[in-house]
Amino acid sequence: MLKGKVALVTGASRGIGAAIALELAARGADIAAVCRSGREAAEGVCAQCRERYGVRAEVFLCDVADGEAVKETVARVRAAFGTVHILVNNAGITRDGLIARMKEADFTDVLNTNLLGAFHMIRHCSGLFLRNREGCIINIASAAGLMGNAGQSNYAASKAGLIGLTKSVARELAPRGIRCNAVAPGFIRTDMTRDQENAPLLAGIPLGSMGEPEDVARAAAYLAEADYVTGAVLRVDGGLAM
Ligand SMILES: NC(=O)c1ccc[n+]([C@@H]2O[C@H](COP(=O)([O-])OP(=O)(O)OC[C@H]3O[C@@H](n4cnc5c(N)ncnc54)[C@H](OP(=O)(O)O)[C@@H]3O)[C@@H](O)[C@H]2O)c1
Repeated sequence: MLKGKVALVTGASRGIGAAIALELAARGADIAAVCRSGREAAEGVCAQCRERYGVRAEVFLCDVADGEAVKETVARVRAAFGTVHILVNNAGITRDGLIARMKEADFTDVLNTNLLGAFHMIRHCSGLFLRNREGCIINIASAAGLMGNAGQSNYAASKAGLIGLTKSVARELAPRGIRCNAVAPGFIRTDMTRDQENAPLLAGIPLGSMGEPEDVARAAAYLAEADYVTGAVLRVDGGLAM
């Protein structure tokens, strides 16, 4: 149970982040739902958290790629909820393209949101975790970060980087009672993968189907409660990256 815990979830307006916010709320956590622009959708997720599970839930608009904005947002979450116990770095984007034609901005935009965004959030939440002598960080990586993926060199680099970040932070902060783990989803049915479902893709997945956001959310909730697990990369991919 996560009653009395405060969870900050980035990218909580839709897809995997929305499912994680709801799953953590179902286990009793209060929810600070961060997204960049989808306020209306995030308000809907927070309303469901409050109405279904009786927890507190509020929306905070923030571009995670902007370090100053993240600093301010963490301060606003602290003012509203008192602290943060669980940080879920889920916000992510794709800008797919073949390497020979990929624009530099397509590479840096993806790195800035997916990897630097997680760094900013960890950096600004870690003071709260150190003060509390507890903390749990969950980074949403990807099977692409483990296997690579043609046409996604920017995205795979950001997710491989996130896995290195996860293990380093896990080692650094373990003596202070702070855990850091990653989830590596395969193909999950969300806006990000809309129209990608096809026979060759499904043939590469041993379990033969795409996953649902709730599959990833249950893995994140497990990591939120698994007191003896740190530095792990939990694949939720139907066997794709084994
Ligand atoms: N879907 C998959 O198959 C899959 C597989 C492996 C890993 N993942 C990872 O899982 C995470 C969630 O993916 P998804 O499929 O749920 O994506 P999605 O449906 O496209 O949702 C992305 C979320 O991230 C937020 N976001 C994007 N850029 C942001 C920024 N700069 N600052 C703050 N929030 C930002 C969006 O907020 P707005 O609503 O405000 O735009 C939205 O809430 C991502 O990290 C993705 O890489 C997904």
